[in-house]
Amino acid sequence: MTETVLKLEHVTKKIGQKNIVHDISFDIHKGEVFGLLGPNGAGKTTIIRSIVGLIRRTEGNVFINGKNVDTEFKSAISEVGAIIENPEFYMYMSGWANLKQFARMSQKNITDEHIREIVELVKLTGAINQKVKT
Ligand SMILES: Nc1ncnc2c1ncn2[C@@H]1O[C@H](COP(=O)(O)OP(=O)(O)OP(=O)(O)O)[C@@H](O)[C@H]1O
Ligand SMILES: [Mg+2]
Repeated sequence: MTETVLKLEHVTKKIGQKNIVHDISFDIHKGEVFGLLGPNGAGKTTIIRSIVGLIRRTEGNVFINGKNVDTEFKSAISEVGAIIENPEFYMYMSGWANLKQFARMSQKNITDEHIREIVELVKLTGAINQKVKT
C-alpha cells in the first residue's frame, strides 16, 4: 500500500443556495499524477482552492500527508506548491531572483544548489539570469 498524500472526504461548497461542489471524496497516493477534469464551471478550481485553504468548505475534510488542513494548516501546507489559474512572476527581475524570492517566502532551507538542479531539470539554465519579461 502506498502512502496517501492527499485525502478529500465529502467536500461540499455551497454559495448561497447554489451547490458549487457536492460531496467530493478521493485519495491521491505518493507518486501519482492526478488530473481533475470537467466542463467549465464544474467546480475544479473551487476544489483546488478549498484544498489549499483559499476558501472555506461548507462541509467535508481535507488531509495532506495525514494532516487536517483546517486544524493543522501550517504543517499540512508546508509540503504544498500550488499555482492557481496563472503563475505570477516579477517581470523586472531575473528568473533566478524570482526563485530566490519564492525560496525565501517558503520559510524552508532551500539551497542555491537545489534551485540550480531544478533549473537544469527544466532546461532553463541558459536563460535563468535574464529578466522574466524577456
Ligand atoms: N465566489 C463565487 N460566487 C458565486 N459563484 C461562484 C463563485 N466562485 C465560483 N462560482 C461558481 O461555481 C461554479 C464552479 O466554478 P469553478 O471556477 O470552480 O469551475 P471550474 O471547473 O474551475 O471551471 P473552469 O473550467 O471554467 O475553470 C461556477 O458555476 C461558478 O460560476
Ligand atoms: Mg477553473
